[in-house]
Amino acid sequence: MSDLLELLEQRTSARESGEIPAALGPMLEELSRAFACDRALIALYHPDRQLLSGSLGRNIPRDYAEALEIPLSDATDPSVTAFRSGVPQRVEDAATDPRIRQHIREVLVELALERFLVAPLLGASEAVGVVLLSRAAPFSESDVDALMPLTNRAGAELARARDVERLRDTSESTAIQQGWLWLMINSVADPVLVSDEQNEIILQNRRAELLFRVNPEDSPGRKHAVTMNNFLFTAALSTWNLQRGERSPTRELTLVDPTEGSELSFEVIAQPATNYRLGAGGRGMVAVLKNVTDLRNVTEELSRNVLRLQSADQEIRTERDRLDLILRSVPNPIIVIDNDNQIITTNEAAQRVFGGEKRPLAEGRAAETALRNNAKFTSFLAQLRLDPATRKAGELALIDPTTSEALEMVVTATEIQDQLGAVVAVVAVLQDVGRLRELERRRLEQALFESEKLAATGRLAASIAHEINNPLEAIQNSLYLLVNKVPNDDPNYKFLEIAMKETQRMSRILRQMLGFYRPAASMGPTDVNALIDEAEALVVKRLRDRKIGLRKSLDGALPPIQASADQLKQVILNLLLNAAEAMGEGGTIDLETRVYRDARAPFLRAEAVQILIRDTGAGIDEEHMPHIFEPFFSTKGERGTGLGLWVSSGIVQAHGGTLQVRSRPGIGTTFSITLPIAGPPSDADGR
Ligand SMILES: Nc1ncnc2c1ncn2[C@@H]1O[C@H](COP(=O)(O)OP(=O)(O)O)[C@@H](O)[C@H]1O
Ligand SMILES: [Mg+2]
Repeated sequence: MSDLLELLEQRTSARESGEIPAALGPMLEELSRAFACDRALIALYHPDRQLLSGSLGRNIPRDYAEALEIPLSDATDPSVTAFRSGVPQRVEDAATDPRIRQHIREVLVELALERFLVAPLLGASEAVGVVLLSRAAPFSESDVDALMPLTNRAGAELARARDVERLRDTSESTAIQQGWLWLMINSVADPVLVSDEQNEIILQNRRAELLFRVNPEDSPGRKHAVTMNNFLFTAALSTWNLQRGERSPTRELTLVDPTEGSELSFEVIAQPATNYRLGAGGRGMVAVLKNVTDLRNVTEELSRNVLRLQSADQEIRTERDRLDLILRSVPNPIIVIDNDNQIITTNEAAQRVFGGEKRPLAEGRAAETALRNNAKFTSFLAQLRLDPATRKAGELALIDPTTSEALEMVVTATEIQDQLGAVVAVVAVLQDVGRLRELERRRLEQALFESEKLAATGRLAASIAHEINNPLEAIQNSLYLLVNKVPNDDPNYKFLEIAMKETQRMSRILRQMLGFYRPAASMGPTDVNALIDEAEALVVKRLRDRKIGLRKSLDGALPPIQASADQLKQVILNLLLNAAEAMGEGGTIDLETRVYRDARAPFLRAEAVQILIRDTGAGIDEEHMPHIFEPFFSTKGERGTGLGLWVSSGIVQAHGGTLQVRSRPGIGTTFSITLPIAGPPSDADGR
């Protein structure tokens, strides 16, 4: 390209210096010699300036010659007349000739052209200038006739030279234009290519050369890449030509960067073009390749990011829905508040108490109550915030706006911190403990009532027993006396027997009652294992009759406990008899004693002893379980008094211990008596 520029520059400077057609010199020489002229001058016609201008002289220096300029508008001037009419004109004395304008006269005098013949130089179709011939001798008619063929030939030659010149000028301007076009095309940042009908590249700009032109000094890698690109481009063009029907002017093409080896994405704008100078063979394509690699990468990255964002968004949404669901289904009011005590979110339970979007505040009292709740909560939170702990709790009395019931709320506020440890929100969970407390209170009341009822019944029963005991003893004594007086075969004897039996039963019941109610004063160190042996001795015959086995595993190291031995023996006896009665024939009763520790029960923090009585009997029905310790509850009809367990539990409690039962119907029952070694705590004595 730079060669072209240089050439252009050379030509431009040559033109500026005003080059004269080369044929002019010899022509002038020939004319001068033929007519023995000492001076001669050729003035050429300049169509652009409409004048005849001195170009070359004989015996006239060039810059002098060039001083002569005769405008064609000087109609009378002999030179103009000769040029226009084609007829040579004679000038005898240029200094005075009135046809010549003054300043031209002066120039002619200056050039020493006072006396001359001016003849036209005629080309094929037009005059190209005039020649001024000057000599001392005048020009005859025959001279002029002889001159004409010569000037005509000179004119034709000049005209031809001028044509050549003109042609050269046009090709030169074409070259200049081509030069600019090249500059233009090369300054395009995108590769621009022209391909022929075979889709081979025939012309390309600099940018395209980087991709498609092999240079001898290129590395094999680059050469390979360039060959590859040429192939790819040609192949792509061929494919697109085949799909001409559905063509869009832009197509995509992936090439190889010959320097980096990386992939380049191009958008190809290909337009068919025909070079008419070549006729039908001049069909080809002009293609502009737009590099969209970066655009493509960015677009891909962008769409990947969009996808990622979308899925993250979805995840967040799902997570939020899940949280919402959890929040909604939690019955406790939950409120999330920001640092300015503004509510961020609440669940439905909270809106019930404080009002909110889901439960717009109704007019009137409910709305007022909700507002008051809000105010209380806010000031409570402000108070709570003073506590440095991140998790704090306190109690707050609110009112249910719907039912106007008092709500005893335990508020647990947990601070949410960001990565830097700054508190960004507080989650407050409220729990209505009022209802729980009410339930607990009722349960306690019920239990108290039950135990008081039992105690009252017990006291009543005991006082009745006491009152009845004396008269009953009198009746028994009387009956005893009567039995000894009435012979066995007396018909009334059996009535006496019935009376005896029933009074004995009555006294047994009374004894049980009184035994239980005897004051605990008689407590002393008691050997529990020995008590068990004594109780066993009392029932051993009965057990043997009913083929019931008795297994004892007594802890020999059992410490003596502070207890009433008589009462404890009665308890063990009661439980043994119940076990036997639950078994019918066969089966085994296990008796076990052991030292017992239970840190959970405060009164047993001291060591305790435990007596376990396990049977393989019928078990206790679940529906009977709550009642077995009640007085007079019995499933044994006439045979039972329903006092055994009632009295036993009373005795155990009087000792500061517990009587517990576990039973599985059809498998067996275990009663366990747990007694503190030290006896009852002092406040248990008063019973
Ligand atoms: N070891 C046991 N196995 C099955 N049921 C029992 C046992 N101990 C007590 N019971 C049930 O508890 C009830 C109350 O017992 P208790 O107070 O001793 O009265 P009674 O023995 O006079 O019926 C019994 O009627 C019986 O239903
Ligand atoms: Mg009993």
